Amino acid sequence: MELIKAIKNRYSCRSYSNKPVNQKIIKKLLELANLAPSANNGQNRYFIVITKQEDRKWLANMNNQPYLAEAPIDILVATKLSTQSVKEYLRSLKDWDMTHNGKDPLKVNITEELKNNLVEMKYKWMISDVATAIENLMLTATDKGLATCWIGIIDFDGVIKKFKLPNEIIPVCVVTLGYEKTKIKTVKKSRKPIEELIHWEKW
Ligand SMILES: Cc1cc2nc3c(=O)[nH]c(=O)nc-3n(C[C@H](O)[C@H](O)[C@H](O)COP(=O)(O)O)c2cc1C
Repeated sequence: MELIKAIKNRYSCRSYSNKPVNQKIIKKLLELANLAPSANNGQNRYFIVITKQEDRKWLANMNNQPYLAEAPIDILVATKLSTQSVKEYLRSLKDWDMTHNGKDPLKVNITEELKNNLVEMKYKWMISDVATAIENLMLTATDKGLATCWIGIIDFDGVIKKFKLPNEIIPVCVVTLGYEKTKIKTVKKSRKPIEELIHWEKW
């Protein structure tokens, strides 16, 4: 399937058949997901593949979204909160010569403002790394005749305990994956007129 077709055909599927998804396909989708861009090529995204019915039921009950149990696969996507110090963090950016206008980041004066900027950037990067990968995952799944839905309403503390996430690993969302129960012929998209979203040159 060509890319534009996959973009147009992807939709949030909330009804799945019980046809299983081959493990090789899941691995391939995740490999392709990780080809997405990431900040400083950090690839700060982790995938917990949940196949057991009891666990999928637990997820579905967590927020009353039954399709989490219906889909044969739920992928819990998480990101890592870096515990690096500012110095270590700057060192990790050393190759990125755009940082601080080409100045060696290690020679930069670490002000409170810089610290706050870096912390804010770190949080934005964590979510961005996850989001680029998920979009790849959803598009390649569509290409392979599979369906997905991004589930953002989750019990964050609950999933940390249930799936034994280590301290610094933060869950972001779950992506359901499976074959749709009824094949949708034409995907209808409800979107704002693009003019509402575009600003040329300045807001
Ligand atoms: C950050 C985010 C959170 C979402 N959370 C949920 C959710 O908890 N449950 C759900 O059914 N769909 C969820 N969705 C799917 C959106 O409702 C859906 O993408 C949107 O309505 C557009 O429809 P489409 O994906 O079919 O084009 C979420 C999507 C995103 C990107």
